[in-house]
Amino acid sequence: MTTLFAFLHHVAAFALVSSLSLELMLVHQPLTLANARRLMRIDAVLGASAGLLLVVGLLRVFVFEKNPDYYFSSLAFIIKFGVFIALASLSLLPTLEFLSWRKAVRAGHLPDIDERRLRKVQAVIHGELAGIVVILLCAAVMAKGGWI
Ligand code: HEM
Repeated sequence: MTTLFAFLHHVAAFALVSSLSLELMLVHQPLTLANARRLMRIDAVLGASAGLLLVVGLLRVFVFEKNPDYYFSSLAFIIKFGVFIALASLSLLPTLEFLSWRKAVRAGHLPDIDERRLRKVQAVIHGELAGIVVILLCAAVMAKGGWI
């Protein structure tokens, strides 16, 4: 089970990073109806992989790996978890933007997004990818028993 959950953790993490990278590429392209549909679908995959990562990660903390005391006394884990929650909250901005496009896209119209909102969405996705680098550093440190 430990191996299965480590595997699921990796699958969810790779799906999350792939979705974010695709979103970053698409939000820098001209917004077409096809791209708007793609962004909405990819964002759903991103949400599902973040949810899976959270559930699997917490199961690893409480059931399958060292023990909760180990992780909650690890600065690396606390930073990793904190950054994850901060990024999840930040990702609400692009998600709410994409969800607001549903009606227009269903009707076959191009969603309406002004330059300022688009810049914010781009900045948040950039920030999320940068945050993932911090999470990866913390994951490596905490797994090897550092920053305790
Ligand atoms: C974007 C989010 C995340 C990424 C990219 C990520 C990545 C990683 C990586 C690369 C490892 C080391 C390999 C392994 O042991 O499987 C790892 C381990 C681990 N992660 Fe995550 N993780 C993320 C989110 C989370 C969350 C939200 C939790 C818990 C709430 C969590 C809990 C753990 C635990 C318990 C381990 C095992 C560490 C050990 O061997 O002692 N991860 N993670």
